[in-house]
Parts: sequence; structure tokens; C-alpha cells
Amino acid sequence: MSKVLVVYCSMTGNTKAAAEAVAEGVRSAGAKVVVKDGVDAQPGDLLAADAVALGSYDAFSYMGGGLKDFLDRAFYPTQNQVTDKPYAAFVTHGGGGRAIGSIESIAGSFKLKKAAEPVLVKGLPAGQAVTDLKALGSKLAAAAK
Ligand SMILES: Cc1cc2nc3c(=O)[nH]c(=O)nc-3n(C[C@H](O)[C@H](O)[C@H](O)COP(=O)(O)O)c2cc1C
Repeated sequence: MSKVLVVYCSMTGNTKAAAEAVAEGVRSAGAKVVVKDGVDAQPGDLLAADAVALGSYDAFSYMGGGLKDFLDRAFYPTQNQVTDKPYAAFVTHGGGGRAIGSIESIAGSFKLKKAAEPVLVKGLPAGQAVTDLKALGSKLAAAAK
């Protein structure tokens, strides 16, 4: 069974809820999912995954520190070992959402391959946003096979 890593950071719970919706979409597509806060995730989690979802709140138009911490720690230990691994990104924000650019830029440095368009959500995900996040998870699961 293919495995998807969902790594995220969240200060007040919005992005954590988004990560859970992504994870549900992965499961519903028949893949295994591992959900980790960026500060707990290890480079080996990325190596072990067939695909990865990267999620963050928008912090001054950049990704939050928890996800950046993971990506910084994971870069050298995974370098040239994750080329073309499917990824997708999601962001919760307060009305901006430009943090998505920072995630996609670093995904490029890792040479990950975009498997789905990013999902941006204002505040706590509900309604269509939850549907979109689940679809992101399902697309990643499909790309992981
Ligand atoms: C320090 C800080 C900086 C923020 N900067 C932005 C920003 O530049 N643009 C934006 O749209 N929202 C910004 N926000 C709002 C958060 O991105 C938004 O409330 C998000 O949903 C919080 O997610 P969380 O509950 O997972 O922490 C900021 C919030 C904090 C705490």
C-alpha cells in the first residue's frame, strides 16, 4: 500500500484541521497516511513516503516556522533522493495566502513534482474548502501509486 506523509504547522488549529481533511482524502483513496507536525517530522518520514502534502498557515506571506524547520532539517539528508516525488501544498490564511509561494519554491529546491494544484483556505476549513482539501489528499494518493 502506498504511503502519503502530511506534514504541517499550525498555531491556532486551522491548518491542523486542514491537514486532517487532506489525510481523510488520502485514506478514502486507499492509501496509508502519516500526519506529522513539522517540528516532530524527521527526514526519514519524507524518504519513507511515496508522496507528501506540505501545509502551513500564512505567516507574513511566508510559511510558518514549523514547516520551515522541517524543510531545513530535511534538505541535506534527502537531497537527490526525493526527485520527482509527488507533492501538493495547502495553506490557511487570514485573507492573503502568499505563503504558498514560499512552499512551492522550496518544493522546487527538493525537486518534488507537483501532483495537484494548491488549496488555499481562509481561516478554519469548512464546506467546499474541506471538499477541496480531501480532493488534494485523494490526488496525492493516486500520484503515489
Ligand atoms: C504571526 C502571524 C502572521 C500572519 N501573517 C499573515 C499574512 O501575512 N497573511 C495572511 O493572510 N494571514 C496571516 N496570518 C493569519 C494566519 O495565517 C491565519 O489565521 C491562519 O489560518 C492560522 O492558521 P493556524 O490556525 O493553523 O495557526 C498571520 C498569523 C500570524 C499568527
